[in-house]
Amino acid sequence: TGGTLVSATGRGAADVLVDGERVAAVLAPGSTVLGVDLPARVDRVIDATGKYVIPGGVDAHTHMELPFGGTAASDTFETGTRAAAWGGTTTIIDFAVQRAGERVQDGLAAWHAKAAGNCAIDYAFHQIIGGVDDDSLKAMEGLVDEGITSYKLFMAYPGVFYSDDAQIVRAMQKAADLGLLTMMHAENGPAIDVLAAQLVEAGKTAPYYHGVARAWQLEEEATHRAIMLADLTRAPLYVVHVSAKQAVAQLAAARDAGQNVFGETCPQYLYLSLEEQLGAPGFEGAKWVCSTPLRSRAEGHQDHMWRALRTNDLQMVSTDHCPFCMTGQKDLGLGDFRAIPNGIGSVEHRMDLLYQGVVTGQITLERWVELTSTTPARMFGLYGAKGVIAPGADADIVVYDPAGRTTISAATHHMSMDHSAWEGFEVDGAIDLVMSRGRVVVEGGAYHGRPGHGRYLKRGLSQYLV
Ligand code: URP
Ligand code: ZN
Ligand code: ZN
Repeated sequence: TGGTLVSATGRGAADVLVDGERVAAVLAPGSTVLGVDLPARVDRVIDATGKYVIPGGVDAHTHMELPFGGTAASDTFETGTRAAAWGGTTTIIDFAVQRAGERVQDGLAAWHAKAAGNCAIDYAFHQIIGGVDDDSLKAMEGLVDEGITSYKLFMAYPGVFYSDDAQIVRAMQKAADLGLLTMMHAENGPAIDVLAAQLVEAGKTAPYYHGVARAWQLEEEATHRAIMLADLTRAPLYVVHVSAKQAVAQLAAARDAGQNVFGETCPQYLYLSLEEQLGAPGFEGAKWVCSTPLRSRAEGHQDHMWRALRTNDLQMVSTDHCPFCMTGQKDLGLGDFRAIPNGIGSVEHRMDLLYQGVVTGQITLERWVELTSTTPARMFGLYGAKGVIAPGADADIVVYDPAGRTTISAATHHMSMDHSAWEGFEVDGAIDLVMSRGRVVVEGGAYHGRPGHGRYLKRGLSQYLV
């Protein structure tokens, strides 16, 4: 009671009645039910006076326990979903992995085994197809029944997850038939590997050179190629972790031309830069090694990402949460940036970091909700249950305190990481209370969730498919 309910389309004073796991009603403040004051009829009243009441965050891009470069992402489903809950995210969509030579069904089963019984919040999966061949193409036919309506291909990482153009065309044709949304890691991997080898050969081995090798031209080129192959095959396309302004321009042009193409960016591409990575002492820049890489601030990529979020050239923000510790993981790449496991951990901070865009006037409150909850739910077939506070929706609700203030630090975060990519970041606003399917899981700076509360969500088709 008493809060300002914010949705993707508006805001206003409203009370929310929760019954069991669901939202029962959204009511004018002070409403009575059958003539009786609401507070007298309920088990518990949560006072949200002066605060925003928003649908729980949907982070559509996480990698709990992802095997990468001889190690594995340091958050398990247990620790990663707990950290997500702390940060106001009540649903994650993680990536089940199939590698070349493996059965898709086995990769998916392995992901279910990692997650089942361990998640604090609800979860769903995309399917990585790391080896497109007759078997994996056939297996894609079973994904919709498993509740998996999107899959990811990689134009990067030759020898690991990489697909060549022939494989991409075959997968997109299959996806177009099945109604699956194709998610693309759009970087030209073979060209990157040439530049990276030349840099190392020249003694340029520090973390910063990871970003130099992964030049924006190679993101723009791959994005363009993905768009053209998607047009050819009539496959809807979603480009993940967009960081180059030139890649945004490719997406915008395709959308203007009427193609069913979408893009996400991530908090790191809104705030962090290649110049800061260059300035980091010693091996410190390794904490910001991710792909696509951080981009040059002098070239204006960060400002452009905010602009694209405003103009809807980009439609949503996910974290690409893929944490690795500095000691024992990132340091595998001491002396050769190519061996630094790629990824940044932010699952706990997405809602706060995007809210800074509201504070600084870059986006509206409504757009904040749309980018972090409503569009992800619609894009990936969860809308109705998730992404909205309305009768019948899951009671995934965040009370957000605009008067709060948070300093991000590894000393206080809940992710399983020995550092923070966001160390010392000061954010206005704070998570006040988090409810997951009617259960309060975070309140008053204390955690009340439990592993196993989170359920696997079978997703429907994307609501953006036509
Ligand atoms: O650096 C990143 N993004 N690591 C996770 C794997 C991926 O490509 O999304
Ligand atoms: Zn990727
Ligand atoms: Zn990723």
